[in-house]
Amino acid sequence: MKKSISTFLKHPTKDSSNRSANPPVTRASTILFNSMQELHQHEKRIKQNKKVSYYSYGRYGSTTTIELENILKKLEEAYHVFLTGTGFGGVALAIMSICRPGDEILVSDNVYGPTKEISEELVCEFNIKAKFYDPDNFSDFKNKITNKTKMILVENPGSNTFEFQDLAKIVQLAKRKKIFTFLDNTWGTPLYLKPLKIGFDMSFTSATKYYSGHSDAMGGSLAVNKKVFKKVMFFYKLSGYRMSADEAYLIIRGLRTLDVRLKQHYENTKVVINFLKKQKKIKEILYPHNPSSKNYKLWKKYYSGANGLFSIVVKSKKKSSVVRFVNSLKLFGIGYSWGGFESLVILQNLRDTTKYTKKRKFFRFAKDEHIVRLHIGLEDPNDLIKDLKSSLKYIR
Ligand SMILES: Cc1ncc(COP(=O)(O)O)c(C=O)c1O
Repeated sequence: MKKSISTFLKHPTKDSSNRSANPPVTRASTILFNSMQELHQHEKRIKQNKKVSYYSYGRYGSTTTIELENILKKLEEAYHVFLTGTGFGGVALAIMSICRPGDEILVSDNVYGPTKEISEELVCEFNIKAKFYDPDNFSDFKNKITNKTKMILVENPGSNTFEFQDLAKIVQLAKRKKIFTFLDNTWGTPLYLKPLKIGFDMSFTSATKYYSGHSDAMGGSLAVNKKVFKKVMFFYKLSGYRMSADEAYLIIRGLRTLDVRLKQHYENTKVVINFLKKQKKIKEILYPHNPSSKNYKLWKKYYSGANGLFSIVVKSKKKSSVVRFVNSLKLFGIGYSWGGFESLVILQNLRDTTKYTKKRKFFRFAKDEHIVRLHIGLEDPNDLIKDLKSSLKYIR
């Protein structure tokens, strides 16, 4: 029977031997074999990427992480999925698997801060040069490709400013030039966008966010096609990347309700945006909500849904009053890691290099325009509106 993804997520795995609706958490470093022949046969199967239910050594994962790999393989329609201990580990894994000394990496300027930092500060120590392109300007992207460009790293939509790019155009050009492509799809998740189907070689999601959904577990998923599988496997094995069985279990548990939670985040967000749209102190809402905007059109072209993460552009000559607005919210926690059940807020400084973020090279906002990122959680949106209403008055 062909099942919908919602049904699949409710029944992805169970534990028949223990008669449990959930898989067991298998913590194991030593895996036992009946004979040397069996061990060698099994390792051969793993090398050929044949389906297995256990690995030969705990560092490569356990039955629990394989359960998660299989669920994500299906969701992403991937050749293989590599799991890492944090989302950021998946970004580093991709870059370090593909790029070598002398190569160039072309990176969208609006990527997640630490992705920018690794591209700018770490890879140069290995003689890999990073170039940043304007996500709103395809010609800039095109002009920065050289015969040394080995990898293109895109995040869609961009962190904090939420620009949407024309993904198929990027992939087409990259394929013509034989350049490897990577997409950070944490915002969309493979439920709403399948990067490998568009033609990206690597599709990355921070499992810490909506997959886990409960602001506790951390992890990353790097889904790949056959073309890059061997390169990534080589680095993955030798660098010791791994996700623990406990985190994998929590992420499997989160995935069961991913579809339901995402729908509710989206519904709540629409209600809150309807309120925010009418507020004079808010100059712009960086979310695909306005059908006449370029970002809406590009979102509609590729995505089948949206979620609870966006930014508002607050106009004020007094930054301290925006800080007061943020601080006075009662239901919005001040914190970074979004995608959980709860609402969050953070004032971002993208204009300057700070301890936490790298300066943007392409930044279209004026000095008195402040980017406040909101995550709309699963609370009653009318309570969130009341909270926002009583705090917006502090903005001067
Ligand atoms: C878009 C994006 N990519 C990657 C990451 C890194 O994920 P993690 O926090 O799991 O390391 C984050 C974290 O905030 C993110 O927002």
